[in-house]
Amino acid sequence: MSPALFDLYADRKSIVVVVDVLRATSTMCIAFEKGIEKMIPVSTVEEALEYRESNPNYILAAERNGAPVKGFDFGNSPQSYLELDMSGKTVVMTTTNGTKSISIAKKDHDVAIGSLLNLDAISKWLISQERDVIIFCAGWKDKFNLEDTLFAGALAQQLVDSDLYNNFCDATQAAQILWEKGKNDLFGFLDNSSHRKRLANLNIDSDIHFCLKPNQTTKIPVLKNNTLVAIDES
Ligand code: MLT
Repeated sequence: MSPALFDLYADRKSIVVVVDVLRATSTMCIAFEKGIEKMIPVSTVEEALEYRESNPNYILAAERNGAPVKGFDFGNSPQSYLELDMSGKTVVMTTTNGTKSISIAKKDHDVAIGSLLNLDAISKWLISQERDVIIFCAGWKDKFNLEDTLFAGALAQQLVDSDLYNNFCDATQAAQILWEKGKNDLFGFLDNSSHRKRLANLNIDSDIHFCLKPNQTTKIPVLKNNTLVAIDES
């Protein structure tokens, strides 16, 4: 439920599904749906800017505290990728929590990217892998957040329903209970959530609606040599 807890779960053998519903992993999923070839997640703004020097054709995306970073092509809105021809592009991305979580998880584990946008696809793919799974909630600055835990509950429910997985983990069971409670009105359920308020102050409620709409893609970004590429579970 927080990056700060990851070491307690790390086992060097599970597939780690990193989730940052609002908005990093939702944006990653829609960017691949819109045709990008690869995405390079980095932890710092400086690292991202170095990539510009190495390849001026790279698209640079950065967000801090919900707001776009000056001098970058994109902030972290998934809707930035909708109208443009993104086919064959490479995006370098850094965000407050999502890309930091990937850099923590990738040390000793295979990493896949989950969001409500690819929920059914990623659960179908995980079941086909027949491996243990750790759902890594990016949260907000190491604090628990509701939206990532809702996704964790939704994914866990699908894995447990396959009869291939058990959930002998109280955090997983709590996430499933939360999903059961909120699944019919995610936007309403998150009415008082901290990041919904943070984004509302930045007038980006439309991004929240977008990120809470399940199954908009069958693309599953996975990390290969520090770069995200997509597999398609259609
Ligand atoms: C993050 O990585 O912290 C989030 O995705 C932030 C955001 O996009 O608002």
